[in-house]
Amino acid sequence: MKCVFVCVVVLAMLGVRVQAFSFNDLTDYVDKHQEEYVEALRDWVSIESDSSDITKRAELQRMMGVVEEKLRGMKGNVSMMDIGTETLEDGRVVALPSVVTAVFGDDENKHTVCVYGHVDVQPARREDGWTTDPYNLTEINGNLYGRGASDNKAPVLAWIHAVEAYTALNMELPVNVKFLIEGMEETGSNGLDVLVESQRDAFFFDVDYIVISDCGWQSTRPALTYGTRGNCYFYAQVEGPKQDLHSGVDGGAVIEPMSDLIGILNSLISASGQILIPGVADAVADFTEEEKKIYEKVDFDMETYRSSIGVERLMYDNKVDLLAHMWRFPTISIHGIEGAFCGFGTKTVIPAKVTAKFSIRQVPNMNPAVVEKQVTDHLHGVFQQRKSPNKLKVKMIIGVKPWLTDTKNALYEAGKRAVKKVFSVEPELIREGGTIPIARTFQDMTGKDIIMLPIGGFDDGLHSQNEKISRYNYMEGTKLFISFLHEVSHIKNN
Ligand SMILES: *[C@@H]1O[C@H](CO)[C@@H](O)[C@H](O)[C@H]1NC(C)=O
Ligand SMILES: *[C@@H]1O[C@H](CO)[C@@H](O)[C@H](O)[C@H]1NC(C)=O
Ligand SMILES: [Zn+2]
Repeated sequence: MKCVFVCVVVLAMLGVRVQAFSFNDLTDYVDKHQEEYVEALRDWVSIESDSSDITKRAELQRMMGVVEEKLRGMKGNVSMMDIGTETLEDGRVVALPSVVTAVFGDDENKHTVCVYGHVDVQPARREDGWTTDPYNLTEINGNLYGRGASDNKAPVLAWIHAVEAYTALNMELPVNVKFLIEGMEETGSNGLDVLVESQRDAFFFDVDYIVISDCGWQSTRPALTYGTRGNCYFYAQVEGPKQDLHSGVDGGAVIEPMSDLIGILNSLISASGQILIPGVADAVADFTEEEKKIYEKVDFDMETYRSSIGVERLMYDNKVDLLAHMWRFPTISIHGIEGAFCGFGTKTVIPAKVTAKFSIRQVPNMNPAVVEKQVTDHLHGVFQQRKSPNKLKVKMIIGVKPWLTDTKNALYEAGKRAVKKVFSVEPELIREGGTIPIARTFQDMTGKDIIMLPIGGFDDGLHSQNEKISRYNYMEGTKLFISFLHEVSHIKNN
């Protein structure tokens, strides 16, 4: 008590007054600093922090440094955590980008919220079909286009700005805030699980809640996300002749690796989307009537969605089935074939070695270790029937479990109140078809309550061309985080 009194007196003498909480002052502050926030995003987007491209590793490391500097400038207790090295396919060993942590406040009488985010991005090249330079933030009709704008740079900045607004106005932070910002999310959060495990009794010891803002809404209505799918990513490689051949000369003489590869890929999924790998569907949790009722309430217009992605027909003709297949059933996607000819023109090469890349999204109660065996056995079985002299290798590169939580806990109630305060509507409760590996890692390793509080728009185009975030989502999202911190402080200890 005495200390508080002395501090207030000292601050008063310095001419600094601790302001009482005022949501209006905080939101005014955000509105007044809108241009600065956009410029900060421009700086961040200009850094090509593509974690999948090893030649960009220095840029990624520079990005982590920029985050560190920003948080240090706000007087946080900042650390750069070394998370070790990664061994590349060619045997080279390279350092993983450091994880940045920052601590704001250590008042034992307050709750402690840990904000997780990432500042690495998916690859982007103008030639992929971007209408603007992906690393030059460009505003068109209130939308800010750039790689990483929505995933996840603007949300991370919005969290930083939320804390900064309290500090700038000399308002006490209603909770202690800890940041954990990584740079390998887009390639499976390499190294982070080891860090989380080792920090369980250090960085995480006083953390009560973990918040992740790394996905989007489902419609124009704000949402709280309560589940994400996991992912198993595979390489299937067929190797044949010692070197590439020419089809005009050698075509009739060999069984082509590409032909084998297409043959086995075609055994993964039916034309109607049914997974053909024996056993995989058996583990999927039953689709209950209660769950169907939740999906029925989701504001999701199939027609808008269909036309936004530019297809003639969707796989399912009703909302509930479509959402279920996006959120709670597994899917198989084929992403590419390494070693195959993919340039312009009509080259008649026969590739000697080709590697297919495909992934299977994971849902409760699938287990990546079991899926790995099912897929490997299945592909080898199909390959054997082809009686090919070529060689097949199957390898699972990433195996991430799904995450699902209960929306009736105090943390989600705080999230609902925060949304209502800023947007004057109830949030939608949604699941996410994509994978955010860290959610499950946090759950398994720390046992803390986790909430996903997204601010991205439904049409932000994460991972695809012309990714953007709207000014509206960025600014109102910042206000949402400000409000959320306040609402969390009202959670009663039980
Ligand atoms: C900053 O964090 C470190 C490590 O977590 C801790 O040892 C130190 O006491 C903290 N410093 C302040 C000023 O809080
Ligand atoms: C970004 O785009 C703007 C508008 O086209 C242009 O004026 C500017 O030079 C570009 N900046 C960079 C770094 O390329
Ligand atoms: Zn992300």
